[in-house]
Amino acid sequence: MAQTRATVRKAQKVSGPSFFQQPIHPLSAISVEDFSVAEVRRILESADALEKEDPLRRMKRLAKRRVALLFYEASTRTRTSFELAAKALGADTTLVSSLSSSIEKGESLKDTGITLKALGAECIILRSPYSGGPYVLARATGLPVLNAGDGMAEHPSQALLDLRTILHFLGMRASAVSEKCLRSVTLTICGDVLHSRVARSNAMLLPRLGAKVILCGPVELLPDAAAAMGPGISIERDFEAALRQSQIVMMLRIQAERLAGLELDADEYRSRYQANAERMAAHAPEALVMHPGPIIRGMEITSEVADGTMSAIAQQVANGVPLRMALVERALGAAKGGPR
Ligand code: CP
Repeated sequence: MAQTRATVRKAQKVSGPSFFQQPIHPLSAISVEDFSVAEVRRILESADALEKEDPLRRMKRLAKRRVALLFYEASTRTRTSFELAAKALGADTTLVSSLSSSIEKGESLKDTGITLKALGAECIILRSPYSGGPYVLARATGLPVLNAGDGMAEHPSQALLDLRTILHFLGMRASAVSEKCLRSVTLTICGDVLHSRVARSNAMLLPRLGAKVILCGPVELLPDAAAAMGPGISIERDFEAALRQSQIVMMLRIQAERLAGLELDADEYRSRYQANAERMAAHAPEALVMHPGPIIRGMEITSEVADGTMSAIAQQVANGVPLRMALVERALGAAKGGPR
């Protein structure tokens, strides 16, 4: 055994630390767990400040800095808002998508990352179908990596923009973010929780601020074990009972691309879990309705609710730009010249 350890040490001297010992850039945003509550507050305050800043002045912040967007999965909201955010700060952006790059020829995530770094990328924004992909990229490149959604794992920037939306609904300022700021809030997340990285990041973040999170959906899309994700999280199978307890409801689409052969009775699903006008009026008329998108009208939500007065769906999308400005600025502001 001692000989084996010595051999390993000798090999490490020649080749350097193993891949899994490579550090992750501290200003990456891969999981909501990367942020303390104080850091969440700073990010939201930074989003507010950047949103208000004179656009010409703001453009100077990251002038000529290079941001690569690496998208291995389809995206409308996240990709566009990250790109607009980086450009609003003056950064040069380049988009690499799986269909128009050497990823199609079999190039690995690691080699794609090393290539982008060699081309001058200082920060990589990654959407990947593989849970954990951002960690691979971060270790391979040493660059700050911003997770734009990885498989069924996490979508931290979505959870932060959702928090911004919730604070606006409650009339709270970013400076109020604390371990207790959402203690009077119950939020239901309803739908395909199992496959949702948005649900996971929100369920990990919001209870840390005092919120109660009710997960709701059929057992195929919400296993009982999900209640053990952490404190402040419970499961309620009866959507109407969940609505009656909630000030906020976040609807999720069924992720057909991840169902892997599972067949659901769509009519039964709609009858039990759809957010429709009658159900909302009867059980939660004053609840804020959220949805990370894309929405499937007529399935998990009707047009009346999605376009109704209590819907925050468009505000969620709009909040993506300032929030992502804050994340890109945080990552790049310190990539040269040390932390701010
Ligand atoms: N909310 C979200 O991640 O949407 P996109 O897939 O369009 O980026």
